[in-house]
Amino acid sequence: MKAVILVGGQGTRLRPLTLGTPKPMVPLANRPFVSYVLERLRNHGIGEVVFSMGYLPDGIKAFFGDGEDFGLKVTYVTEDRPLGTAGAVKNVEEYVRDGDFLVLNGDILTDLDLGGLIAFHHEKQATGTIALTPVEDPTAYGLVRTSESGEVLGFLEKPSWDQIDTNLINAGTYILKSEVFDMIPAGVEYSFERGVFPRIVGKGLCGYRSDSYWMDIGTPEKYLQAHYDILEKNVETNISECLDQDFVCLQGQVHLETGAKLVPPVIIGEGCTIKAGARVGRMAVVGPGCTIAADSVVEESVLQKGCTLEENVVVRRSIVAKGAHVGAGTIVSGGAIIGEDAEVGEDNILTNHIRIYPGTVVRGGSIKF
Ligand code: GDD
Ligand code: MG
Repeated sequence: MKAVILVGGQGTRLRPLTLGTPKPMVPLANRPFVSYVLERLRNHGIGEVVFSMGYLPDGIKAFFGDGEDFGLKVTYVTEDRPLGTAGAVKNVEEYVRDGDFLVLNGDILTDLDLGGLIAFHHEKQATGTIALTPVEDPTAYGLVRTSESGEVLGFLEKPSWDQIDTNLINAGTYILKSEVFDMIPAGVEYSFERGVFPRIVGKGLCGYRSDSYWMDIGTPEKYLQAHYDILEKNVETNISECLDQDFVCLQGQVHLETGAKLVPPVIIGEGCTIKAGARVGRMAVVGPGCTIAADSVVEESVLQKGCTLEENVVVRRSIVAKGAHVGAGTIVSGGAIIGEDAEVGEDNILTNHIRIYPGTVVRGGSIKF
């Protein structure tokens, strides 16, 4: 079976992390996010993948190449303009039309049992089967009403509160029969969620409920939460092995000075230097090649690759993007995001979800809220 991965979105809610890096390439525990999707497909025996791309496609191609290193054959198709979820799939019809195929949103971290989904789809002889997951607030998703036996009775994209009568939503993974291509107009913007699915309700559309781990990495809060869940092994990924029994994963040579502390769970990338008196963890992921100077603290946070923290910096519940530099004594907390290659001077207090844009220079002592 073949799979289409939709990665054409701009990831606006994750800005500034997605200004220079497309969402699928934003690192999650030091690996491009979408590599977890590929890992899951390969582990379920899927051999061929088509990336349907739009925004910033080059980094994705350069990283995955022909897919051989990842155990899959990868093809790339880039849209001139966004075609919507179904239009994007219609656009790659020639690669997948020879049988039932999978469609996956590229921004979901899950350990959903694809084998179970595929078996259910065949058993039901469905035209399409949507994986369903329960969430507390369905308003940001596609609400799916089903019968006891799994026939879809209603599909409502981004429902309002008064329309909610189930907690089950579209988990962003489908298996479709190739006849679905006949329902999608070519070359125009068209959506599965607002076009195709509502039209095939009652005509062979089924829902497969799963209680596996599931997270849409659409916002900075969820980006952090996905890291916490990998660190706590709430979701099965191949990083679980490295975390092993003690929940400390060193991804290569790390220079840990005497008196530097790692508090599990923690993941440290290759080539990091952590100096005496610094404390990293609990709940921290540090990208490769970072330097954390004496007496600094990194907790419940993510540092992407090549960051430098000078002495006495505190980073708590925040994200520091690649190449950023944080001056001595600065506090970064409360959901702050420091963008790529930003230079933050000493003795600043960056909190309250502040977003420092890539390359910005913040002078010493200039921000105190
Ligand atoms: N190629 C391409 N072209 N991809 C696109 C386009 C497009 O025009 N528009 C969106 N995508 C990709 C995005 O990159 C993402 O991977 C996926 O399609 C879904 O788009 P989002 O923008 O992330 O949609 P959403 O999160 O608001 O809602 C979707 O996902 C929910 C689950 O997370 C819907 O499918 C909901 O029904 C679903 O519940
Ligand atoms: Mg999404």
